[in-house]
Amino acid sequence: MLFDLDLIRTVYGTFANRVDAARKAAGTPLTLTEKILYAHLFDADGTKLPIGHAYVRGTDYVNFRPDRVAMQDATAQMALLQFMNAGRDRSAVPASVHCDHLIQADMGADKDLPTANSANREVYGFLSSVSNRYGIGFWKPGAGIIHQVVLENYAFPGGMMVGTDSHTPNAGGLGMIAIGVGGADAVDVMAGIPWELKMPKIIGVKLTGKLGGWASPKDVILKLAGILTVKGGTNAVIEYFGDGAAALSATGKATICNMGAEVGATCSLFPYDEAMERYLRATGRTEVADGANALGDNLRADAEVAADPGKYYDRVIEIDLSALEPYINGPFTPDAAHTISEFGAFVREKGIPQQMEVGLVGSCTNSSYQDMGRAASVARQAKTKDLKVKAEFIINPGSEQVRYTAERDGILGDLTAIGGVIMANACGPCIGQWARHTDDPTRPNSIVTSFNRNFAKRADGNPNTHAFVASPELVTALTIAGDLTFNPLTDTLTNEKGEPVRLDPPQGDELPRQGFGVKDNGYIAPDTANRGEVAIDPQSKRLQRLEPFAPWDGGDFTELRLLIQAAGKCTTDHISMAGPWLRFRGHLENISDNLLMGAVNRFNGQTNSVLNPLTGAYEGVSAVAKQLKAQGIGSIIVAEENYGEGSSREHAALEPRFLNAKVVLVKSFARIHETNLKKQGMLALTFADGADYDRIREDDRISVTGLKTFAPGSRMTITLLHSDGTSESFEALHTYNEQQIGWFRAGSALNS
Ligand code: F3S
Repeated sequence: MLFDLDLIRTVYGTFANRVDAARKAAGTPLTLTEKILYAHLFDADGTKLPIGHAYVRGTDYVNFRPDRVAMQDATAQMALLQFMNAGRDRSAVPASVHCDHLIQADMGADKDLPTANSANREVYGFLSSVSNRYGIGFWKPGAGIIHQVVLENYAFPGGMMVGTDSHTPNAGGLGMIAIGVGGADAVDVMAGIPWELKMPKIIGVKLTGKLGGWASPKDVILKLAGILTVKGGTNAVIEYFGDGAAALSATGKATICNMGAEVGATCSLFPYDEAMERYLRATGRTEVADGANALGDNLRADAEVAADPGKYYDRVIEIDLSALEPYINGPFTPDAAHTISEFGAFVREKGIPQQMEVGLVGSCTNSSYQDMGRAASVARQAKTKDLKVKAEFIINPGSEQVRYTAERDGILGDLTAIGGVIMANACGPCIGQWARHTDDPTRPNSIVTSFNRNFAKRADGNPNTHAFVASPELVTALTIAGDLTFNPLTDTLTNEKGEPVRLDPPQGDELPRQGFGVKDNGYIAPDTANRGEVAIDPQSKRLQRLEPFAPWDGGDFTELRLLIQAAGKCTTDHISMAGPWLRFRGHLENISDNLLMGAVNRFNGQTNSVLNPLTGAYEGVSAVAKQLKAQGIGSIIVAEENYGEGSSREHAALEPRFLNAKVVLVKSFARIHETNLKKQGMLALTFADGADYDRIREDDRISVTGLKTFAPGSRMTITLLHSDGTSESFEALHTYNEQQIGWFRAGSALNS
C-alpha cells in the first residue's frame, strides 16, 4: 500500500466535526472548498472548534496544514536543497518525488529511458539519496508523470496537498484541494510549520447535461479558459457541481482540474461521487472509498449552496455538456478558444500553416487509460476505413500502470499501428524535452497536442511552431487527416480507394475491464534502516548547495538600474526557460544564465538584448545583471499583466534574487510567482496606475522609497531619474502581510 491510510483515517476521523464547527462559526452553509480548507486549518485541533470566525475570501491570509507534498524532478532539486537547510530530520508529512521532467522524447521509450538515466545520473542519484535520507517516496524515471501517479496512488477526497508543479490541481479530480506551489512553500509543509495561503474566492461552475459524440472533458476546460482567460481564476478555487459533474469519470474530472492552472486558479475540484468511488476501488484504495462514503455530504457543498449558487459562490458559470462542442485552443496561449466548427475559418483567416505536422497525445492533462482508449478507438478507424495517416504521432503514457494496462489491452497496439511512437511515461514534449525530427527546425508549422500549455517555443523551442491544445481523440483525428481544418463532426476524408469516409465518434472504457495491471510501478520506498547521507560534489555543474540570501540592509532602494522592461506576455517560461535549461535546475548559479532570455525588451522588441547601462552596449539579460551585481548595483525588472503566469518554478524568483535584482514592478502578478518572489526576499510591486508603465525610460535610475514604513497596505514611491536630469514619481502597491514583510527583512522566508 503506497498511500498513508493512517493519515487519511485521521483526516476523516475529525472531518465532520471540523466542518460542523466551521459552519457554526461562519453562520452560513459551506461550499466544498470551504469544508476542506477549514478542515485543514493549521491550528485546528481534533474535535475542538477550529475557528473563532470565518475568514474573508480574497482578503485574509490563513495558515493551513496540508496532508502531503509531491515534487517533480525539475523543481524537487531546489525544494530539497532548501529543505536540507531547514534543520529537520524527516519530512513532517508524507511526500514523494517523481522523475518525469528530464526525459527527452526522441526515439521511443526503450532507447530514451536509458539515455535519460545516463544523462541525469547525478541528479537522479541526488534525488533518490535525499528522498531516502528524509523519508520521502521516490518514483524513478519512467514511473510516470507526477499528477497521474498522484491521482492513481495518493489523492483522496477531502484531502489537501501541495505540489511543486503548477498542475498539482489535477488531484481535484478526486475531490482534493491540491495546490501548485514553489519549493519554499513545499519546505514549509515538510518542515511542519504553517503553510500560508490567502483565503481564495470561489468560482462555482455548474455542469448540466452529458457529454456526447466528440465532446470530452478537455473541451469543458478549453471552453472555460476562453471565458475566464489566463488570469480570470487568479486567487480563486474553481468548484464544479451539478448533475453534469457526476456524469464525468474521475480522470476526466482530473483533466478539467489540471487545466484550471491555465486560468490562474489556485486549484479546482469536484464533489465526491460514484465515479470517484469507482476509480478509488479500481486503483486499490477500497479503504479510502469506504471512508469517503461514510463522510457522505461532508464531501459535497451544502444543499443550500447547490440550490442557490449565486448566493454562495463569488461567480457562477454554467456549461451544458449536452451542447458542448469540441474545442481547439491556441496558438501561443491556452485561452484562445475556438470551437471545432469555427476553427477552420480561423486558421485560414490568420494564415496559420494548415498542414498538421505532428499530433502529440500525453502530458499530465490527458494520459489516463480512458484517454488512451478513446484515442485508440479513432486510430483503429484508419485501418478499418483504409485511411493513410498524414502526420507524425507521438504518445507519452501517464504512468507505467497506464502503459502496462493499455499495452495488455491492445490500446498501444492500435496507436502504434498508425505510426504512433510510444515515448517514456514522462512529460517529454510538454516541457520542451523533445528531439523533434524535422527537415527544418525554423519553418512555420502547426502541431496539435493533448497538453495544457502552448506558449511559443514550449514544445520544440521553435518560435514558428503554432501549437494548439485539444482532446486526445481530436488530436488523433487531426493526425490521420494531416489537416488542421479537418472537422470530424462534419467532414469526410478520402481513403486509399478514393472513397469519402467519415470518422465515428470516439469510444473508450472509463476503467480497464480486467482491472489495472503493472509489473514494476517504479516506486522506491525510503529505507528507514539505512538512511545514508546526501552527497553533492562541489565541482558539480548540475547541483550546488544553497547559500542564504543577505537580509535587507534597512534602507530604501536608490538608483536601481532597469534590467529589462518586458513587453507583453511574460510567463515563467520567458523568465526561466525550460528545455535544455532543465539540467541546471539544481544549480542556481548556472541556471541564472537563462534569466529572462525569453522576455521581449520593450525598447527594441528583441529577446535577450537589453541595454547595459555600464557600457551602453546591448547584451543578454543575465550578462548585464551579472556586471551590475559585480559593481554592487541593484536592478529592477518591469513588466505588464499576469507576470509569471505558467509553471510554479521558483527559479524564476531565485534567479533575479541571485543576480541582485531587488524589485519586480508589474501591472499584475500570477499568484504562485508573486508568492515565490516574496519567499525569496524580493520586493514584488504593482503599479497603482498601469499607465505609469509608459513613463519608464531605458536608461533611468529608479529609486523605491517607503521601505522603512513597509507595512500591510502601505504604498511605495517609485522615482524615475531620467538621463536628461528630469525626474518624476508615482505610486506602487504591494500585497505583503506582516509575516511576508518579515521574509523580506530577513532576506528570504527560509532565513526568517
Ligand atoms: Fe509534465 Fe507538462 Fe504536466 S511538464 S507535469 S506533463 S504540464
